[in-house]
Amino acid sequence: MLAALAALEIAARLPRFKNAAASAGFILALAAPLAVVTALCGWFLSLAGGYDDALLAWHKWLGTGTAVAAVVAAIFFQRGKIIAYRVSLFLTVALLMAAGHLGGSLTHGSDYLTRYAPEPIKKLLGISSLKKTAVNIPSADWRQRLIFTGVIEPVFENKCTSCHGAEKSKGGLRLDSFAAVLRGGKDDVAIKPGQSAQSLLIQRVLLPAGDDDRMPPDGKVPLTAAEVALLKWWIDAGAPETNLLGQLSPPAEIVAALPAR
Ligand code: HEC
Repeated sequence: MLAALAALEIAARLPRFKNAAASAGFILALAAPLAVVTALCGWFLSLAGGYDDALLAWHKWLGTGTAVAAVVAAIFFQRGKIIAYRVSLFLTVALLMAAGHLGGSLTHGSDYLTRYAPEPIKKLLGISSLKKTAVNIPSADWRQRLIFTGVIEPVFENKCTSCHGAEKSKGGLRLDSFAAVLRGGKDDVAIKPGQSAQSLLIQRVLLPAGDDDRMPPDGKVPLTAAEVALLKWWIDAGAPETNLLGQLSPPAEIVAALPAR
């Protein structure tokens, strides 16, 4: 609604749309209170924690600024101060865009705008699509894969790090590096090397669908049985980091469960 108000002000400068801003007062009467409610809801959500502190601080202040600027714009409009209204409206929209962008980064990760862009566009923007985990190993020879970066980390990266990574670390847990996985979260270490059944990470992954504590939560793509088997085997093997898979002599069903490259 705030962006629409700005668009109406611009459109109203064209003779053809000279009445475009006629319902600005009505839209503003909805948008300004809602901006305040939105900022408040965001503030409550921030109390749940688990977000990148710096990103969150910027998002919070820009979001608060958006709400304040929207209310100021509404007051100017109400008093008939049209120039001051336009200036504060465009300031509101600028703040909204900045706050919205950071909100997207908090929720979806800072690469959210380009992550799924087609390859040529990524090239144009100078972004390599090679993930940091894509160690260049001939995929046919699983024996040469590094156990953590080549096998385990990609599972976390696909299914867990959107909530357990640098920008968001729900439950205080990050799963985006070996050290972080071993460190664990706020309740407990996530894995106990050698004891998969006693490892919180495995326990929560194995909870039945519908359980509030199940990981990943309902609505997200769950781990496949093969991925669960892989994680269990890795933990029971002592959760090694730098061994080559070949050195660990995995049983045949684990080799069959290895993610395709
Ligand atoms: C959609 C977001 C989301 C995804 C995806 C997700 N989690 Fe979580 N996870 C949470 C939230 C929120 C919490 C904290 C609240 C709770 O404990 O339920 C949490 C907590 C945890 C904890 C407990 C940490 C502690 O010490 O309290 C573990 C272990 C865990 N997740 C493992 C995983 C694993 C493994 C995956 C991937 C298979 C995963 N999560 C994917 C949102 C997510």
